[in-house]
Parts: sequence; C-alpha cells; structure tokens
Amino acid sequence: MPLHPLRRNTNVSWQREEVGRTERAGLKGQRSCVLWFTGLSGSGKSTIANCLERLLLTQGRHTVLLDGDNVRHGLNKDLGFTEADRVENIRRVGEVARLMADAGLIVLTAFISPFLTERELVRRLLPAGEFIEIYLATPLTECERRDPKGLYRKARRGEIPDFTGIDSPYEAPEAPELRFDTSDCSAETCAGIILEYLAEMKLI
Ligand code: ADX
Repeated sequence: MPLHPLRRNTNVSWQREEVGRTERAGLKGQRSCVLWFTGLSGSGKSTIANCLERLLLTQGRHTVLLDGDNVRHGLNKDLGFTEADRVENIRRVGEVARLMADAGLIVLTAFISPFLTERELVRRLLPAGEFIEIYLATPLTECERRDPKGLYRKARRGEIPDFTGIDSPYEAPEAPELRFDTSDCSAETCAGIILEYLAEMKLI
C-alpha cells in the first residue's frame, strides 16, 4: 500500500543541451544510427551483429552492442518473457539505444523484439533514416535444428513457458530495411551486405 502519492514525471521539463548528437558523432567522423536486428532465437542476430561490429571497428567506427541475453543480466534482470515484460524490455532498450545514438555511436541491438508495435515505437524515437531494421527471417525449423542453447528442446518438453515461435508469437516486420535468411547466407556475407547498405545510405 503506497504511503504517498506516486508523482512520476509531472513537474519535469526538458533541459536544453548545449552539445547535440550531430556534433558528438561528427567528432568521431561518423553519423549515429541504430541497427536493429530482430528475429527468432537462434536466427543469427547476435552472430551477425558481432561480426558487423568487428568490421565497423576495423574501419575505425565507434560502436556499441546491446544484446538481449546480456541486457537481461543487468538493466532488465527484473523482466521475464510475458507479453508485458517483453514490451517493457524493448521500451527500455529503445530508450538506451536512443541515448547511445545521441552520444554519437553506431548502435547494434540483438533482441527477438517480437512485436511490431514496440519496434515501430523505437523507430519513431529516432530521426528519420537512422533506424535500420534488419529482419533475420531464418525459419523456425532451422532455428530449432541449430538450437545453440538447447532452449527449443526444453521449450518442446514444456520446461520454458512463453517461448517465442513455440507458444509465444513473433510478428514479422512488414517493411524492414534489410532481410536475411541465414539458412543460405553466412554471417560474414550478411555483415558485408549491411556494410554496403550503410555506405549507400551515407551512414558510414
Ligand atoms: S525479447 O522477446 O524480449 O526481445 P530478448 O531478445 O530480450 O527477448 O531475449 C531472448 C533470449 O532470452 C533468447 O535468445 C533466449 O536465450 C532467452 N530466452 C529465455 N526464455 C525465453 C523465452 N521464453 N522466449 C524467448 N527467449 C527466451
């Protein structure tokens, strides 16, 4: 029982910042953007994001990687996998990604992020053209065959409730900037194609 009323964010205004995101990114000789990987567990998000980050780093780019499994050990360790918790997971990650983009970084995120609405909300947090949605359309059968963490086997045995693709939905993006099926495309090839796309869009 609350003993005082929750004030939340009334009486909070925006504080003007002297230095802006363009200036911060400019000092690093780059433009900020968020490369948002989405897809089923085992679809290749983390593998490609890691490979791409290495390539960007080699080119002297300043990056940061936010990965679902890691963020869930810290910032989001209070969240599980119900629909409401996944919504909150992505809301927080979206805000963090925005802050990191404000810091002038190229942000890579690897979260299942199963819901269209939440991904759209993150897109709208960022200036036009700076949210690059990369859909890993690797079919469930292939993700389940790989089962790198043994989680699909557990989920099929009924040991993990609400497992994406089994008894929790995944809403595929309708118009992602990029789409790969990693059943027939290696992580290196996908990362190379993303680099080319970023160059074409004048983001790098
Ligand atoms: S999301 O749906 O909220 O975006 P997120 O990407 O953070 O998920 O976490 C997914 C990772 O958590 C998976 O790669 C897997 O290792 C682990 N995991 C544990 N339980 C589940 C579950 N019920 N559904 C999906 N992934 C799960």
